[in-house]
Amino acid sequence: MFFFRLFQPKDFNSVIELESRIFHEHDPYIYMEMYEKVSSGFYVAVDAGEVIGYTVGYISVPGKGRIFTLAVKEAYRGRGVGTQLINKICDVLNEKGVSVASLEVRMNNIPAQHFYLRRGFVPAWVERGYYTDGEDALVMKKEL
Ligand SMILES: CC(C)(COP(=O)(O)OP(=O)(O)OC[C@H]1O[C@@H](n2cnc3c(N)ncnc32)[C@H](O)[C@@H]1OP(=O)(O)O)[C@@H](O)C(=O)NCCC(=O)NCCS
Repeated sequence: MFFFRLFQPKDFNSVIELESRIFHEHDPYIYMEMYEKVSSGFYVAVDAGEVIGYTVGYISVPGKGRIFTLAVKEAYRGRGVGTQLINKICDVLNEKGVSVASLEVRMNNIPAQHFYLRRGFVPAWVERGYYTDGEDALVMKKEL
């Protein structure tokens, strides 16, 4: 049975370990920076004391939110953790006055694009060469 709570520094290694396995780009320090700058929008999902997922969202400009990341440990996927995490961060942003949330997803990450589509995000535009390996990002948005 998982639950959510705000990220704490003790979660750093768990988040970094998941991040380095799940994503191509790996920048451990950005998560400490996120904790320092936007800690109220950094949530982890925990099951039996283990971090099984995380999300970070923040206000980019007044009224607009950016979901920086969302990930769930492989063994826990397909159980609703990702849905609850994205709902949680959208609720948190909305409570802070955000009316539109956006995120970037790799053009080749079709499963994630479908995941977001089914949760109300719509494709907005393409950011050419967004990732360090040159891949484009699809920007998706949702009215909260
Ligand atoms: C995208 C991601 C966060 C979704 O997390 P999740 O906990 O699997 O999400 P949920 O269980 O709420 O929903 C997953 C969907 O896939 C289906 N699914 C079933 N088994 C699954 C599995 N083993 N793995 C993934 N999805 C599965 C679910 O039925 C659900 O379908 P739906 O959209 O029709 O409802 C997760 O797959 C992930 O971490 N992916 C890698 C990182 C990533 O791509 N992040 C997004 C880019 S920024």
